[in-house]
Amino acid sequence: MTQDEMKKAAGWAALEYVQPGSIVGVGTGSTVNHFIDALATKKDEIKGAVSSSEASTERLKELGIEIFDANEVSSLDVYVDGADEINATFDMIKGGGAALTREKIVAAISKSFICIVDNTKEVDVLGKFPLPVEVIPMARSYVARELVKLGGDPVYREGVVTDNGNIILDVHNMQITDAKALETQINAIVGVVTNGLFADRGADVLLIGAPDGVIKKSK
Ligand code: 5RP
Repeated sequence: MTQDEMKKAAGWAALEYVQPGSIVGVGTGSTVNHFIDALATKKDEIKGAVSSSEASTERLKELGIEIFDANEVSSLDVYVDGADEINATFDMIKGGGAALTREKIVAAISKSFICIVDNTKEVDVLGKFPLPVEVIPMARSYVARELVKLGGDPVYREGVVTDNGNIILDVHNMQITDAKALETQINAIVGVVTNGLFADRGADVLLIGAPDGVIKKSK
């Protein structure tokens, strides 16, 4: 099985969490693209989706799924999204696709976070994947210096502007043993919009695409 086939298996498995008549929170990335394809098969049974990026919005619209603004809904039952890394307590690094801030907003208004990944994303310690941090452009150098003080090596993601008009610093060489504390610490740096640690609001259900099928884990 290829990595993409494992992503597809996880994406389609998430369909069982979608309730008829609901508005579904939809993440961003290649695994979520498979989920969106699956969701399109139920488009007449759901009200629509709250999307976490312009890219997902475009794909959802192309497939005939109505888009709702996050401000129009008080809460969502389910948010389905991928991850770049996930550990045993379902803390994640996200933001490889630069959509971390909107992903965090949609996750925050959702009762349940269904994380869909292929089996390369499970790790013992977070941090091998560089931690994305969304930063107001004016604060780029200041935030980078502060991240160095925290022990990381921030690298400016060249040529990337987020959907919110900001830049991304990818922080290399972090061994993240207390994800909640680091999430709070980085978010407190002036100029940081948010960082890609999803520990304060981690996943509730993990669907892992693996060669023998989809493995389901719950908190
Ligand atoms: C985008 C994300 C994605 O969920 C993460 O990068 C995983 O992507 P993929 O499913 O393509 O491996 O956080 O900002």
